[in-house]
Order: sequence, then C-alpha cells, then structure tokens
Amino acid sequence: MSVFGNRTSMVGLASSGEQICHRLEGLRKRGESFENLLSAAVEYLHNSNSRFHWTGIYELFPDNFLRLGPFIGAPTDHVFICVGQGVCGTAVAEERNINVPDVSKAANYLPCSSATKSELVILIRKGSTIFAQIDIDSHELNAFDPSTVAQVEKVADWLATLYQQHRGATRTIGGPASSEP
Ligand code: SME
Repeated sequence: MSVFGNRTSMVGLASSGEQICHRLEGLRKRGESFENLLSAAVEYLHNSNSRFHWTGIYELFPDNFLRLGPFIGAPTDHVFICVGQGVCGTAVAEERNINVPDVSKAANYLPCSSATKSELVILIRKGSTIFAQIDIDSHELNAFDPSTVAQVEKVADWLATLYQQHRGATRTIGGPASSEP
C-alpha cells in the first residue's frame, strides 16, 4: 500500500526519467515532505520497470556508513553498509556509479537475495558531495541497459537537488547537516 494512496495508480510502467521527475516535482510543489518525496521516488522508479525487483535508497552518513532508507522489495540484512564494502560501498569509495551485469562475477558483492542476478548503483551527488545512492537489484542478468541507466541517473539528479535544498535548510551554523525535519 502506497503512502500516496490512489496516486500510485497514476504510475504506469516504462515511465521515463523525465516523467518521474515531473511527478516528483508536482509532489514537491504540493508541499510533500522530504521523506515522502524519497519514498515516492523509490516507488515511481520501482513501478517503472518490471525488471526492478528491489529498489531502494541508501543515505551516506558522516561516519562513513550507508544507511538504508525507503525501499521496495524483500527485506535485506544490509541496513548499514560501510563505505568501501559491497557494490554500494564501493560506489561511494570510488565516487562512481556501478552497473554489475552479473553479480556472481563481482567479488565485492554483498548478497541481498539469492534471486538477484544484476545490480545498479547510481550516486545521488552534487559534484564531489555524495548524499545518497539509488540501489536497484534485478532477478535478470544484465538488466540495466544504457537507457535504463540514464533514466535512473535523471531521477538521482533530481534527488540530489532535493538533498542539497534539504541539507541547506536543516544545517546548523558551524555544525553538520541534520537529518531532522
Ligand atoms: N548488494 C549490495 C547490498 C545491498 S542489497 O543488494 C539491497 C552490495 O553489494 O552492496
């Protein structure tokens, strides 16, 4: 059940990155909270592609750990991931998006589900500042073609602007960014 009630019925399969961002922008302008916008982004992305079997956001914290935020799919043991570990942590450590066409060939892969065959991690970043990442698992090999990657990157870019505005609004003078509303 979506936190957005009937609005999920408007989410069709194969939404482009632009369409998803347009819908998110509509929610933002209607005053939806930061947390609800993150959940909506996960929901819209997940519903956009039948090959997305697990879709979530990991947020990067100052202690160099990724913490699981909103997600759709099977529960995972990997609620906290240290930077440098797994595909997710490696993406942050190496400051790059990672597309793994066959997870059985990735030595650093942290298994979430035995059904997962491929994984995509797209950083939510502004320049050198990494806020979070979108992590998507698929039960199909090589599930993420260039147009799919571009779609997820588009949503990640929109989320990066959201994070930047949110952090700017919640940062205390001289202190670290707060996750409090
Ligand atoms: N496979 C990830 C861990 C997260 S789960 O897929 C949700 C990794 O290797 O970092």
